[in-house]
Amino acid sequence: MEAAAPYNPAEPGPAANSVELTVTSPEQMRELGRRLAKLLRAGDLVVLSGELGAGKTTLTRGLGEGLGVRGAVTSPTFVIARVHPSPAGGPPLVHVDAYRLGGGLDEMEDLDLDVSLPESVIVVEWGEGKVEELTEDRLRVGIHRAVGDTTDEVRQVTVTGLGARWAGAGLSALSA
Ligand SMILES: Nc1ncnc2c1ncn2[C@@H]1O[C@H](COP(=O)(O)OP(=O)(O)OP(=O)(O)O)[C@@H](O)[C@H]1O
Ligand SMILES: [Mg+2]
Repeated sequence: MEAAAPYNPAEPGPAANSVELTVTSPEQMRELGRRLAKLLRAGDLVVLSGELGAGKTTLTRGLGEGLGVRGAVTSPTFVIARVHPSPAGGPPLVHVDAYRLGGGLDEMEDLDLDVSLPESVIVVEWGEGKVEELTEDRLRVGIHRAVGDTTDEVRQVTVTGLGARWAGAGLSALSA
């Protein structure tokens, strides 16, 4: 297991490519997903982390809208992975909710994400510690409730690009 590098704005380190954003409503979270979609292409892996109800599925919904894929992005109750095809000929969105997957990699392997990744955008909720073997290139998105927020609508979002794919990629477009 690799240790998650803590985000330190004062000292980003050589490989870190990170932006931190404040999102103040579910609609803004969707909008962030739509902006994020513009940066993504086939072969990209996005790993979402954050506590229950943080907004991972809400962000993925916007991502699906931005990619123009078919079918509503929902929180699957029984399905672990859902493929949303793109009628426009773009990459399909593979939406995985790994919450119910134990630490074991077996179930994860059954999903054959390595097979679908080259042609797809794969987004994995609760994927930390479970999908790192797929590729070194990934976008890590952490969503957390802002400290002291009484409205429960404010989220701190940290987007970190890892690997050669994201080295020097313009994540600052996300804060627009
Ligand atoms: N700024 C915000 N961003 C996203 N969701 C928000 C925000 N403020 C309030 N919410 C609400 O929080 C909930 C987020 O639910 P969502 O299913 O997206 O979370 P999740 O992280 O996918 O949870 P789970 O771990 O259960 O999959 C929604 O009810 C949404 O309306
Ligand atoms: Mg969810």
